[in-house]
Amino acid sequence: MKTGSNTMRSLQFLILFLCFVINACAQKLVSPNYESKIDALIGLMTLEEKIGQLTQISNHFDLTGPPPQEGDDKKRYELLSKGLIGSMLNVTSVEDTRRAQEMVLEKSRLGIPLLFGMDVIHGYRTMFPIPLGEAASWDLEAVELSSRIAAREASASGIHWTFAPVVDITRDARWGRIMEGAGEDPYLGSLVAAARVRGFQGDHLDSSYTIAACAKHFAAYGFAESGRDYNIVDMSENTLYNVVLPPFKACLDAGVATFMSGYHELNGIPATADPLLLRDILKGEWGFEGFVVSDYNSVREVASHGLASNRQEATQRAILAGSDMDMGSLCYSTYLGELVESGRVPESVADEAVRRVLRVKFQLGLFEDPFRYCSPERERTEVYSEKNRAASLDIARKSIVLLKNEGGLLPLKQPRRIAVIGPLVKDKDVPLGSWRARAIDNSAVSLWEGLQKTLHKDTELLYAEGCRITAGKRSFRDKLTISYDTSGFAAAREAARDADLVIMAIGEDCFQSAEARSRTDIGLPGVQQQLLETVYAVNPNVVVVLMNGRPLDLSWMAENVPAIVETWFLGSESGNAIADVLSGKYNPSGKLPASFPRSVGQLPIYYNHKSTGRPGNENHNHIFWSHYIDEKQGPLWPFGYGLSYTTFEYTGLELNKTVISSDEQLEVKATLENTGKMGGHEIAQLYICDLAGSITRPVKELKGFRKIWLEAGEQREITFILTAEDLKFYNAAGKWEAEPGEFKVFVGGNSRENLEAVFELKETR
Ligand code: NOJ
Repeated sequence: MKTGSNTMRSLQFLILFLCFVINACAQKLVSPNYESKIDALIGLMTLEEKIGQLTQISNHFDLTGPPPQEGDDKKRYELLSKGLIGSMLNVTSVEDTRRAQEMVLEKSRLGIPLLFGMDVIHGYRTMFPIPLGEAASWDLEAVELSSRIAAREASASGIHWTFAPVVDITRDARWGRIMEGAGEDPYLGSLVAAARVRGFQGDHLDSSYTIAACAKHFAAYGFAESGRDYNIVDMSENTLYNVVLPPFKACLDAGVATFMSGYHELNGIPATADPLLLRDILKGEWGFEGFVVSDYNSVREVASHGLASNRQEATQRAILAGSDMDMGSLCYSTYLGELVESGRVPESVADEAVRRVLRVKFQLGLFEDPFRYCSPERERTEVYSEKNRAASLDIARKSIVLLKNEGGLLPLKQPRRIAVIGPLVKDKDVPLGSWRARAIDNSAVSLWEGLQKTLHKDTELLYAEGCRITAGKRSFRDKLTISYDTSGFAAAREAARDADLVIMAIGEDCFQSAEARSRTDIGLPGVQQQLLETVYAVNPNVVVVLMNGRPLDLSWMAENVPAIVETWFLGSESGNAIADVLSGKYNPSGKLPASFPRSVGQLPIYYNHKSTGRPGNENHNHIFWSHYIDEKQGPLWPFGYGLSYTTFEYTGLELNKTVISSDEQLEVKATLENTGKMGGHEIAQLYICDLAGSITRPVKELKGFRKIWLEAGEQREITFILTAEDLKFYNAAGKWEAEPGEFKVFVGGNSRENLEAVFELKETR
């Protein structure tokens, strides 16, 4: 009898739901407004089902966070078998996503489709340069394209949602997650962030070729104290609003579907439970309508931070603050029911969170067809296609930064006998980078393969590994063991001695950066510095090819080695891209998105710092100014820096006015000339300085850039337009406005060497 009535009830709901879906489809033709359908659906849901929608669990076999605690697996299984899950992460492939989706649709009463999320950070199977490297291209079309391809590949495998872009501004290279973002500058960071959102989401979220993006980690995670991951952040409102929030706002303006909170606390409140960030700023002031997912396990960790005395209170704090979906901690599914029933969390709060989650599911078109992203045909033909790899090669070349090229050692003069030395020469795995989604391990083109293919057939290549970076197992989850074995030095020395020139491929293991990979020493790990000095002693004609996920301390190298090429981790086509640059087939044009320090003691270091009351330079005639007594001042290579095989000269900076009012435009003109012997791209940059404000302003702020191709000897006038909009900041009154007064404007090829002029913004009455 009981079973019969249950069946009846299920049938009624099924009919109701079908009517609702048909209606949804019909109405969608007229308007994309899902709100009434969402309300109707919420009206049908039990509290348990609502909490299910706010619960995300990970694929058991592929964790990107700490291993499950006791009881977690049982609980996950229980929820899955009742269909009380809103989303899963790390389930991929048409086959697996289909199986999980079918299970939830069958087990759950209302058949609300699952949302499959994954960290598709710089590619799905075709790997692109790590985000920090890609930002070095300053090429927004390239950035958008790599995200678009990543979305196409991921969506073909059933993924709906990526936990990207990472838009955390950071000034501290010790923090391993610097590799995931766009570096230190809020202006470049905002443009890159928006390009990534556009790439992932395209024009229509309901296209089965696009996926929902997630701006993370909201907010200020990149300022973890002393660069140690998961550490606290203590930050002024001034820095929060002027430096940290702009890239998040840019994502919002680009229509990002979701946000992720972070593991850190900001000014005493864990970000996952911070009503100021989530309720007041994001959902209030900014009117964000999508949903916020916590970070993995971070709801539980609200108690570890000490904001709550137990997990139940942590749950209460997190949901009230505005964390809509609980990633992985199972706190919502364990405690939220009781919290609502006892009135400690109003049901309306849970309803609002559910509404946000359902809204994104509607936007993705999952109610129309929960399997729309499952295409075996597309998975077979689109993922890792030749076309995608060609795009990866192009973007990889654009991301390379030439740091030093004394005596025009590069491009290589062929043919010659070249010793190719170092642990990364034949490595096919490290260039894939960390956060590699579904890349196939060891699938990158190695530098060795690239050189063999590209260099003249008469060039003789000698090889010596020299040393290794790590010993033993290495992966995203493993603790790494650094190798100190020098037994390969003798062979390296010999190869170097016999060669006209040495190419050394050295740097970090890719798993030395990204989450939980902070370093106190940002030099070359292991015995690589020793290897470099050993090789240099017998043959100083050295080109260093660096692979690394963060700015490193390269002071010795910069002083001694004639040529240095920064290649980050370039992805699937790494070796081909590097060989194209070394051989001169491609003239490098990348510029640093983060300052490279002279030593770790300078950190945090960034170009857009404040003046201090005691600014100065090396020529100061007394010691009482802001500096280090044991180090040269300023970075080794500043933000925006990068060389080309040709040279560029900036002259004739002119402003069309010296005084503007807030409704006028300022035209900033300069002449750019290619003074070298080869055509090349230059990234011309415009900076400003607000000389006096209601709060102090940075000594320089990037406000524009242009990537320009000039043939050898060609000259072009470049024009930037500045308006009062570009002069705005979050001021002492807590307002986003431009303040009248004097400004400097700078134009040049990096943040250090510029032409400059002065103008004034007039008071408006
Ligand atoms: C933890 C990381 O902080 C976050 O960025 C990532 O999206 C999740 N794990 C899921 O893998």
